[in-house]
Parts: sequence; C-alpha cells; structure tokens
Amino acid sequence: MGQFTDNGLPAGQAGFDNRVTRLFGIRYPIVQAGMIWASGWRLASAVSNAGGLGIIGAGSMYPDVLREHIQKCKQATDKPFAVNVPLLYPDIDKLMAIIIEEKVPIVFTSAGNPKTWTAVLKEKGIVVAHVVSSAKFARKCQDAGVDAVVAEGFEAGGHNGREETTTLCLLPSAREAITIPLIAAGGIATGRAMYAMMALGAEGVQMGSRFVATPEASSNEAFKNAVVAANEGDTIVTLKKLTPVRLIKNHFYKMVEEAENKGATVEELNDILGRARAKQGMFEGNLEEGELEIGQVSSLIKEIKPAAEVVSEVWAEFVKAAGQPFEL
Ligand SMILES: Cc1cc2nc3c(=O)[nH]c(=O)nc-3n(C[C@H](O)[C@H](O)[C@H](O)COP(=O)(O)O)c2cc1C
Repeated sequence: MGQFTDNGLPAGQAGFDNRVTRLFGIRYPIVQAGMIWASGWRLASAVSNAGGLGIIGAGSMYPDVLREHIQKCKQATDKPFAVNVPLLYPDIDKLMAIIIEEKVPIVFTSAGNPKTWTAVLKEKGIVVAHVVSSAKFARKCQDAGVDAVVAEGFEAGGHNGREETTTLCLLPSAREAITIPLIAAGGIATGRAMYAMMALGAEGVQMGSRFVATPEASSNEAFKNAVVAANEGDTIVTLKKLTPVRLIKNHFYKMVEEAENKGATVEELNDILGRARAKQGMFEGNLEEGELEIGQVSSLIKEIKPAAEVVSEVWAEFVKAAGQPFEL
C-alpha cells in the first residue's frame, strides 16, 4: 500500500510514496475533507502547505464566493489543493465552469451520481475523486472512471449513508470491490486510526471533524468549542426521511426528534429544517437552533490547534504506529 520515503528530513517527517500521494502530488496521504461552513481557502491552503491535501468545500458557497476562495488559495499555497462539490448543488454548472476556468487540479464530488461530471472534468485534465458510503457505489465510481474513491463510514460528521455501515466494515468491502486508489473517511482523527485504515486497505485518509477544530476553519468559534466539548454519545444521525445527517444533539435536533416521533411527513420535516439551519449553527454559532454537523470522533478531539500541527501530529503518530503497532 506504499512506503516511507527519505526526503532527507528528520525521522518521522519524511513522506510516503503510494498511489494516493502520487495521484494528488502530496507528501502525506492525509486529506482534509471538504466541509460546508468550515473549509474555505484558509484551511485548505494551510493543510496543503503542511503536506496534506486541502479541500475547499463549495457546498456552502455562491459561485462568485467559490472563485474568490480558489484565487486566494492559489495565492496562499503553491501546492495542489482540491474543491469538493456536492452534486446536489443547484447552480452546479456555474460551479464547475469556475473550477475549470480557474484550473483547479483536483475535484472531490459527493452526494450524487459520479457518472454526471467525471468525464467532463477528466477531459479537462482534472483528477476526480468521489465520496461513497457503500462498496456497491465504490464499484459504480470505478465504472464511471473516477481516479479515487473515498469510502465514508457511519461515524462521519455531516451527511451520511442510509445503510449505516461503519468505517471498520466499509473499508474491507470497498477494498474488495475496487482496484483504484481508496481513501478512508469517518471516525479518523489520529495517526493510530490512520494506521488501522491503511491496514484495512486504505491508501489514504480523509478527516473532517478533526479539522473543524482548527483556527483556520471558517466555522464559528462557539461551534468549534462545542466540538471540543463534545462527549461520547453527543452526536446522532437524524433526519433519515430527508437526507440522514450526523450532528450534535441540541434544541433543533429535539424538535426534529419530537416531530419524527409524531410521524411527521417529509414536508413537515422540511419546514422544521428550513433553509439556513447549517449556516445558523456552524457559521453564526447559534448552538441551540442551528444544525451542528460533526462526527462521533468529536469525543476524541480535545483541543483547537493549527491545521499544520494536526497534519504533523497525525503523521508522526502514524509513523510510530507503523514501526511499533502494539506499543501505545
Ligand atoms: C461540518 C462538516 C461539514 C461537512 N460538509 C460536507 C460537504 O459539504 N461535502 C461533503 O462531501 N462532505 C461533507 N462533510 C463530510 C466530510 O467531508 C468528511 O467525509 C467527514 O467529516 C469524515 O468523517 P469525520 O467527520 O469523522 O472525520 C462534512 C462534515 C462536517 C463535519
């Protein structure tokens, strides 16, 4: 699945050579997930400068805002970075046109059919990865011609698969289903977890929640503090009748739960959700009325720390675990 490279750097700092680091042109097979209201140019460029792959999350951006973030990211790093596009985005043609015009090298698509955009992007020389939550869809991605698959388990923050397959179960089955590069996501915040994923056949990891708790994330300070304060059991997957989403339990969640218990229809749930719950919670910091998307792994995140430190600590722990897998 790869080997350590000696770049003349101190022990534990050298990079890794495998299909994922080669595909993206990065030093470490560590991807910072595309996240609405969290991953703008500051976070993406910080991660790319630190040797991982930073991703701008376009899902919460108007097309013009995305262009500004791409341009600022290019100024802030000369390393490769990516843009994440949830394929349900209403103005998707405009987003994709900007991505192509701005010559973004890598696109991570999600929440939709990989067949729709992969050929268009690849024809422009863009590397394409797609996010899935089942081995069946991993196979469909490979058939659609994507360059890499992100397999995201049920632990993950944000929108989630209906089958509720955990990362531990998803990874081996996705590995069997495809031959192209595979990246694990969902529940990963440490180097030891990264090592476990690589042992199951991943060639890289994508971390979302861990990178929310960084100064560079554009999320509201109050939300970041709530992430750090979250304990085991504080997140849940809800809104299964609409699009299942993992979030922190708060007053908004309780309203949804109550309505669901009374047998609310899709329309009634949509009314409760409204149009700007995610922005209200994660960007404006309304911790009770907003939607606070975060993963189960938030219970392991104890500190807000710079993105570059997150990358180097995860990498150093991974290197140590690979050398001494049974030493804690
Ligand atoms: C705040 C937040 C926002 C997210 N937004 C998106 C998004 O816009 N597009 C997407 O594909 N995934 C999104 N995700 C999922 C992440 O890309 C990633 O796969 C997931 O966070 C990995 O699991 P983890 O949170 O356990 O690290 C989001 C996750 C979080 C926590």
